[in-house]
Amino acid sequence: MGLTVGPRLSAAGGVAISGIDLAEPLPPEPKRRILEAFRDHHVVVFPGQALTREQQYGFARNFGEVEPHGGRQAGNKQLEVAHVISNLDQDGNPVDRSPSPVSNYRWHTDKSYRPVPPLLTMLYAVELPPEGGDTEFANTLLGYAALPDETKQRIAGLRVVFCWGASGGKPVMAMREDPPVDHPLVRTHPDTGHKALYLGNHASHIREMTETEGAGLLGELLEHATQRQFVYTHRWRKGDLVMWDNRCLLHRAVANYDMGRYRRVLHRSVVRGTVPF
Ligand SMILES: [Fe+2]
Repeated sequence: MGLTVGPRLSAAGGVAISGIDLAEPLPPEPKRRILEAFRDHHVVVFPGQALTREQQYGFARNFGEVEPHGGRQAGNKQLEVAHVISNLDQDGNPVDRSPSPVSNYRWHTDKSYRPVPPLLTMLYAVELPPEGGDTEFANTLLGYAALPDETKQRIAGLRVVFCWGASGGKPVMAMREDPPVDHPLVRTHPDTGHKALYLGNHASHIREMTETEGAGLLGELLEHATQRQFVYTHRWRKGDLVMWDNRCLLHRAVANYDMGRYRRVLHRSVVRGTVPF
C-alpha cells in the first residue's frame, strides 16, 4: 500500500497520512508529500504507528535539527531521543496535576520564549485514557486573515515580549534562566509568505505599548484567534504520531479525562526553527 493523503480533517486544518511506516527510513518522494501536506494543513496525523523513541528521533531528523529536551547541549544520546511526557509520578502511577498558569492546558506555541522557537513538534501516543485527553490546534493564519483591516494596520510591526514565566500579560512565576525575547506579533510563514498571529501563553506584553495596554490587546487577539472555527481538535488514538507547525498554530492540551485515574503517555520531539520575521 502506498502513501495516501486523506481529506482535510477540519476547516481549520489537519490531514491524515496512511500507508507509511515511520520506523523505516524516509525516501525523498514520501518526504516531499509529507512536507506538502504539512505546508497545506499544518497538522499531519500518522495513525497506527509503532515507534521506539530512537525511531521517532530518526523520523524527526528528516525535518531538521532535533532539539534536546530543555534546551541542553546536544551530545548526550539520552537527551536526543524523544522525550517522554506523561501524567505519571515517579512510581508510574497517574496523578492529577491541575492546570497551572504556565501549563500546556493554556493556548501556547512551543518555546515561544526562545530567540529561535521550534519549527515543528511531534507527539506520539503511547498510552491513552479510554477517552479525552485531546489536543486542540488554533490556526493563526486564519485568525489573522479574519481580522478587520484596521486591526491589521494597527498591529503591523508590533513586537511581543515573551518570557517563560509570563502568562496572560503578567509574570506569574519567577523567571527561569531564559531572558525575555521579542518576536513579531504578525509573523510571516517562511514557506508560504502568509501572515499569522504569534502570541499565546508566555506572551508578556507588547514592546511598543504600556504593559496594561499590550496585555489587553494580546488578550483580545487570543480570544479572536481561538474561536471554534479556527480550531482543529485532535482526538488521540494509540499509535498516532502527530506533527504540527509551531509557526502558524497555537495549541493546548484539554483536561477532559480523569488524570488521577488513567495513564496518558506521549513521546515528544521538537525540530529547530528559524528566527521569526
Ligand atoms: Fe506545547
